[in-house]
Amino acid sequence: MVARASADEAAALRLLKTRCFSCHNEEKSKGGLVMTSRDALLKGGENGAALAVGNPEESAMIAALSPGADPHMPPKKQLSTTQIATLSAWVKAGAPWNASALEDAPRPVNLAPLPAAYRPVLAVALSPDGKSLAAGCGSEVVIYEVTEKGLIERARAAAHLDPVQSVTWSPDGARLATGAFRRVLVWNAHDLSLERELTSGLTDRITAVRFTPDGHRLIIADGRVAEHGTVRIADVAIGGVQTSWPAHADTIFDLAVSADGQLLATAGGDRLVKIWELASQREVGRIEGHSAQVFGLAFNSDATQLVTAGADQQLKAWDVRKGNQIMLLGKHSVGISAVAWAPTPSAIFAITDAGGLLRYTNFKPHTGAESSSAADERKMDAAETALHCVAVSATGDRIFAGSHDGRVLGWNKDGKLVTKLDVNAPKPATAAAR
Ligand code: HEC
Repeated sequence: MVARASADEAAALRLLKTRCFSCHNEEKSKGGLVMTSRDALLKGGENGAALAVGNPEESAMIAALSPGADPHMPPKKQLSTTQIATLSAWVKAGAPWNASALEDAPRPVNLAPLPAAYRPVLAVALSPDGKSLAAGCGSEVVIYEVTEKGLIERARAAAHLDPVQSVTWSPDGARLATGAFRRVLVWNAHDLSLERELTSGLTDRITAVRFTPDGHRLIIADGRVAEHGTVRIADVAIGGVQTSWPAHADTIFDLAVSADGQLLATAGGDRLVKIWELASQREVGRIEGHSAQVFGLAFNSDATQLVTAGADQQLKAWDVRKGNQIMLLGKHSVGISAVAWAPTPSAIFAITDAGGLLRYTNFKPHTGAESSSAADERKMDAAETALHCVAVSATGDRIFAGSHDGRVLGWNKDGKLVTKLDVNAPKPATAAAR
């Protein structure tokens, strides 16, 4: 019998797979280092062994992860303290290598005990009326009813073969679209029946999906880490990609479409933010104000302003027409993983790699670089886990975030953390048979 990997071992191996293998494999061994087997790690790269079994302090692969390291891995990205701790503990535990943990998670089966695999919540989205929350829970999509007391599961469907990377509602709330690996699915949002599947022409991870305001088209971002990020426009009724263009030289982490459907903003792993005229796909603006990957962006209600955030720990707002910075918001010591801009009253919400949720209101643009004077900052209850994605109601009084460790967290308007849902907790059979 093949021994199963322990949860800790599996988590460490999945991290190596998702964060390191793309550059350190048989074909592409950056720094002379192959990481796809334990032997290869022991052999190491140009500078010798990458792994000292039992000794994280002596292991180059762990040393390279800390913020000031040179070389720093993964380049231009920063693993969270939890992720670094997972990898250190794994080295300390003897770096066990059970290759079964590296296989893609099988399609979830109803009523079967859920495997202790990587089932993160990488995408959350609130319906336009704010009454339902859609979340990618591992490879499934789940719709929750948002109630005073918390979230009630309404529908669940096996969506993809790997973690759902993006989820979005159509403007009329009738449909949902999800994206994962090389596949975008369009769902009926009432019963989660599958309406359409888009696969042709998509490369690798679908990192963001948005409907145009008329609901007729889908804007899709896909791409390969450190290689390219492509924007594609697909017709929802026909189901085919109509137009694509290379937009960034790295992953596109976020997309925003202006309410009038004229402008598209893209956030790149190449540190750039670009503004496009959707009708012509022409680049009409470019923001070079971040020194690391840009993870999130959002327009204000009339798309005159844009807020951007990323791995460089900066949260900034820009005048869209002029392209100049108008606000620097807060002072952060961790990467900011996502942002949202609630329209009424106007409020910016940002989540961090350290579990922080911050709200900014009462904006005073053009007051210079002094962060403290640009807006009022409110720190909401912190979560104990790195947050990855955020969804905010139009009024800003309900906030939801998703985490790598499979949780949906919810805050009320007073900033109290009122929901902590483990989406992977086994449910009683009656609930699953619904
Ligand atoms: C985007 C590509 C990329 C990713 C992803 C990446 N690396 Fe690297 N890695 C490189 C490059 C390029 C070098 C060579 C750096 C140099 O010395 O200039 C390197 C070098 C290294 C070295 C030193 C090898 C030697 O002997 O010189 C280690 C150790 C390392 N990487 C570990 C990791 C770990 C651990 C991860 C995942 C957490 C990771 N890398 C992810 C590109 C990458």
